[in-house]
Amino acid sequence: MLLELEEITKSYKFGSSVLKGINLSVAQGEMLAVMGKSGCGKSTLLNILGGLTRPDTGEYRYQGQRLLVNNTRAMNQFRKENISFILQDFALLQERTAIQNVELPLRARGIKAGKRRELAAGYLKAMGIYDELAQSCPQKMSGGEQQRVAIARALVVKPKILLADEPTGALDEENTSEILKLLQKISEDGVTIILVTHDESVAKCCDRTVRIMNGKLVEDEKMV
Ligand SMILES: Nc1ncnc2c1ncn2[C@@H]1O[C@H](COP(=O)(O)OP(=O)(O)OP(=O)(O)O)[C@@H](O)[C@H]1O
Ligand SMILES: [Mg+2]
Repeated sequence: MLLELEEITKSYKFGSSVLKGINLSVAQGEMLAVMGKSGCGKSTLLNILGGLTRPDTGEYRYQGQRLLVNNTRAMNQFRKENISFILQDFALLQERTAIQNVELPLRARGIKAGKRRELAAGYLKAMGIYDELAQSCPQKMSGGEQQRVAIARALVVKPKILLADEPTGALDEENTSEILKLLQKISEDGVTIILVTHDESVAKCCDRTVRIMNGKLVEDEKMV
């Protein structure tokens, strides 16, 4: 298994416990949907998987190795090497151009300017964002275009794991289905995708669906 969570718990200060013993195994190349009511802990789970939030108790294993979840530096390294996020609000820098946004994670990895530009342009093109739009700022783009820029930025570092929090939340049906096709292709290429959604039709496009209910994970029966 690529990722394994065992009895993961999480509560916030002054709040009741959100995750009450989460067990989850995800294989490489799997595309997993995470569903559940608003406030049930989906984003919390995603952030634990991405090493942004520390669980209170439990074990997180990557390729069978126990991760040091309480060691910020180790988790930052794990995230840098393996993980990309796509957030619901895209989290693009509005005053930078699309291509500058996509270059950002490459810059953080010390990749030289020429190579950065080439890689970023290639990924934007693959998302259907051509040269002229690539030079435009996200604030002037449609939701669907911004989403595709955010996806290009997530993929340009060739992550092993893609964590997406409602990646189609802001999109119309046509854009949603385009993005889903793209994610399915990425997953067929071996990238592991964990995607939070409220939309049953989005979940149906995934290999598997789990739901958070009262702090525990419940797995949907596989349709045969
Ligand atoms: N940083 C935080 N500090 C305190 N409480 C938090 C924090 N983050 C989340 N919570 C609480 O934990 C619970 C789960 O939040 P989470 O964001 O994981 O839910 P969610 O399932 O992603 O909801 P939604 O579908 O609305 O995005 C909520 O009750 C929320 O108020
Ligand atoms: Mg959320």
